[in-house]
Amino acid sequence: VNDISTSELAHKYFDEYYPDEKLPLFTNPCDDDILMNLWNGNRSMCEIFPKFIIIGPQKTGTTALHNMLSQHPDLYPSKKNSLTYEELQFFSNETIYLNGITWYLNQFHTNEQSINFEKSATYFDSILAMKRIKALLPSVRLIIMLTEPGHRAYSRYQHEIARINQTINFDDLLKSNHDENSYYFHLKQRCLQPGHYAEHILKWLKYFPSKQIYIVDGEAFRHDPRTILNDMQISFLQLKNFINSSNLVRYNKKKGFFCSFSAKHNFQCLGNSKGRLYENMSSYSREYLNNYYLFHNQKLIKLLRYYNYSLPLWLIFSNPIKL
Ligand code: A3P
Repeated sequence: VNDISTSELAHKYFDEYYPDEKLPLFTNPCDDDILMNLWNGNRSMCEIFPKFIIIGPQKTGTTALHNMLSQHPDLYPSKKNSLTYEELQFFSNETIYLNGITWYLNQFHTNEQSINFEKSATYFDSILAMKRIKALLPSVRLIIMLTEPGHRAYSRYQHEIARINQTINFDDLLKSNHDENSYYFHLKQRCLQPGHYAEHILKWLKYFPSKQIYIVDGEAFRHDPRTILNDMQISFLQLKNFINSSNLVRYNKKKGFFCSFSAKHNFQCLGNSKGRLYENMSSYSREYLNNYYLFHNQKLIKLLRYYNYSLPLWLIFSNPIKL
């Protein structure tokens, strides 16, 4: 030990033996008196931590759910920010996570009766997010939305091509075999990979018991969110102040979707980037995605049954033979 300097020792420890420990992992000071004394916060701040998080995945209706729940007078979403809008992405983004716990708490409202929540769709397929949420908020409730994964992939594709100048046909993107460093390789990944639902959910279930995870049929939610919003309030969030969701959302003909509604603000529908109008995917893409997701969907059926979740209708209809 005498022959080795502290920095060499640190180098050995972090680089050779425990590279996973290079990044900090914040635990909850509210659960530990020693940490509480070291932290420059105080006990009253403990109530500010979110009670539930919508963890994604992207393009499944997470913004609509976030908006609709925000209509409830007791539920307070995290504050909007200029970079990631209504998402905090604290647990999935390296730089944001390093802002620390006090920064995270400052993103929430401090009203005494409020039940804080956040939604960051980037958490769903992030192993770091799973570990970090478990470490900081072990009893938080999690909401996952699942739409038919081929439909989700196509929505993600539409989202990306609306943002960039280059364009690639969806059939060609699916057929493509670009090198790992190319933009199109990553685009294809972003479209397909989050739809491996069973794989990701299984990982969440290693960190959280199933009673802490609520799974929403995103297709049913898109057609009519009211039953889901009611059930979520009663059976999952167990809110004292139940508000019939018919008083929170209404169908808006112009938008073609349900939108948040209040007597004061009338309709508050999502912007043009949510609920885009685009052509149906080609029969080639549909078949490709049916085949691609067949195995993943079969795994999802088994997993949901094992944990006593009800199956989303789209899952039953897209896998009628092997049920
Ligand atoms: P499209 O724009 O491809 O139709 P997310 O917010 O998770 O990124 O999901 C976006 C998707 O939410 C939209 O995809 C849309 O289909 C779906 N969605 C579900 N309910 C909606 C609603 N009430 N208003 C707008 N979009 C909704």
